[in-house]
Amino acid sequence: MSYVAKYAPTTLADVVISNNNVKDKLAGYVDGNLTQPLILHGEFGTGKTTIANLLPHAIEGKPALVEKLKAVEFNTVSDIQAMFSAPPSFYRLFTTNGQKRNYFVSNELNFTVKAALAFRDVVDELMEHTQFIFTTNNLASIDKGLQDRSICLNITPINASDWIPRAKFILKQEGVQLKDAQLLNFLNKQLAVSSSNRKLLEELETLVWNIKNPRTVVITKSVKDLIQTKSKAPVSNPLTTTK
Ligand SMILES: Nc1ncnc2c1ncn2[C@@H]1O[C@H](COP(=O)(O)OP(=O)(O)O)[C@@H](O)[C@H]1O
Ligand SMILES: [Mg+2]
Repeated sequence: MSYVAKYAPTTLADVVISNNNVKDKLAGYVDGNLTQPLILHGEFGTGKTTIANLLPHAIEGKPALVEKLKAVEFNTVSDIQAMFSAPPSFYRLFTTNGQKRNYFVSNELNFTVKAALAFRDVVDELMEHTQFIFTTNNLASIDKGLQDRSICLNITPINASDWIPRAKFILKQEGVQLKDAQLLNFLNKQLAVSSSNRKLLEELETLVWNIKNPRTVVITKSVKDLIQTKSKAPVSNPLTTTK
């Protein structure tokens, strides 16, 4: 199993977060102080979908029933009504599973202008008992009226030093030891190349593999050395060489 799947956070506490505003706002939802629809936006691989999937459990304090809205285009009012598995009045009045709230999680939803207007009404009607969580790479693509009703949270890239505890946990699970300075160096370099934590886990997997298979690294290196030595040898051109 790839590290991206193997070490995907299983609770909100596992999610590495550097930004204090993000931490505070998520804590607000968990405490029940914030109930507005939540829009998580930001670069690829920063943890938006992960947070959206884990937040309901954190709010409920137990596994939560979540309705996932499929990433499809909504064009009409009836498209919007059809996405709920019960009539809107149900979500206005009741919650399922003995939960504090109902949950709708949707990744990368697209609305036509007309459907977006209808969705604003749905949100207003259901908000009291229903927590909407949206994720997007492009905040501008989300209806302004929906943004206005929501808390828009920019899931920003993580600092290398904040990754250290989780990276150390992963290395320990894999039975590999690395000095903090070396690990920090690796994390700094990788996060400079890409802010994606998905990419970071892939590179960490390669690093662990290389540490566990040192002979392969040596062989690769010696082959490289060989090639370089060869190319460094002076080449004489028989056509231009004067005697
Ligand atoms: N903040 C994070 N902390 C720990 N792991 C993360 C984090 N963000 C992403 N990951 C890893 O990267 C994978 C992809 O993240 P995802 O939440 O799908 O990103 P996004 O939705 O922002 O594109 C996750 O399954 C997890 O393994
Ligand atoms: Mg996502």
